[in-house]
Amino acid sequence: MKQIKKAVFPVAGMGTRFLPATKANPKEMLPVVDKPLIQYAAEEAVAAGVDTLIFVTGRNKRSIEDHFDTAYEMERELEAKGKEKMLAVLRDILPDHVNCVFIRQSQALGLGHAVLCAKPVVNNEPFAVILADDLINFSDQACLSQMVDVFNYQHCSILGTEPVPKEDVSSYGIVAGHEVKPGLMEVSGIVEKPPVAEAPSNIAVVGRYILTPRIFHLLENTPRGAGNEIQLTDAIAELLSEQRVLSYNFEGRRFDCGSKLGYLKAQVEFALAHDEVGEEFADYLVELNSRMGGKVVPIAKNAKI
Ligand code: UTP
Repeated sequence: MKQIKKAVFPVAGMGTRFLPATKANPKEMLPVVDKPLIQYAAEEAVAAGVDTLIFVTGRNKRSIEDHFDTAYEMERELEAKGKEKMLAVLRDILPDHVNCVFIRQSQALGLGHAVLCAKPVVNNEPFAVILADDLINFSDQACLSQMVDVFNYQHCSILGTEPVPKEDVSSYGIVAGHEVKPGLMEVSGIVEKPPVAEAPSNIAVVGRYILTPRIFHLLENTPRGAGNEIQLTDAIAELLSEQRVLSYNFEGRRFDCGSKLGYLKAQVEFALAHDEVGEEFADYLVELNSRMGGKVVPIAKNAKI
């Protein structure tokens, strides 16, 4: 079985939950403190040994291409001003051995369709899929790297999963199966956004996948499903009848940055962990808390606090 060298980043969604911020920019370019979501995702892939980043973009593709391209003019200006630290930040966005490929998904027909668009570049190799709006951090080893370790001895598709509160199952793809060892499950079924009463478990698929190339053939034959979109979950359900699929509960904390609340939580926790602003930001939160009488509450519009 080949190693995981390619990662697909579907970034062609509409991002409607973040309008108007996503009117002209993909949501994956929204920053958490000082880095766009897509860069956290790219760094996670590179840390896992990936050397080819495949972005499946939509109508707002420009800013992602520009972000991973060399910014010659900016570099020259920073050089002239002697701003070495900022120059290093620009140059370190991706290591030299990593290549970026951009593919256009002309219509947002769903996540499954977006993954299928990467077929001509992935070819006949197992590959990773990262949804950058699921930001995962605060573990010793990055999430995809943990999954690659599992893949390297199990040699089958691996779904990144997380136990979620029972009442939240209807927001996720939910897997059924039996535990092989703690956190690792042999998947026997997968269902997209089940009603709470019908969910086979509370183990939710999050935005990390390692898939065998067989998934492309299945996606080609997957009809539109929930939301009239071609669902990756439906193709994985087909894959289960042909190949072994495991689910892996990753170590780390996940922030659902596709939702406003998850995005705001990520901002706060990443800011607290940030080398440059962490301490002052913590002081600010303590000061805000005391200004509000020890209980942080929503602020009325135009309130003077
Ligand atoms: P979401 O379900 O979060 O949809 O897509 P969305 O359109 O991005 O966001 P909302 O719900 O309208 O706010 C999950 C992932 O799949 C990608 C998205 O970019 C996101 O990373 N996607 C989705 C595509 O690339 N193409 C599609 O046709 C649909």
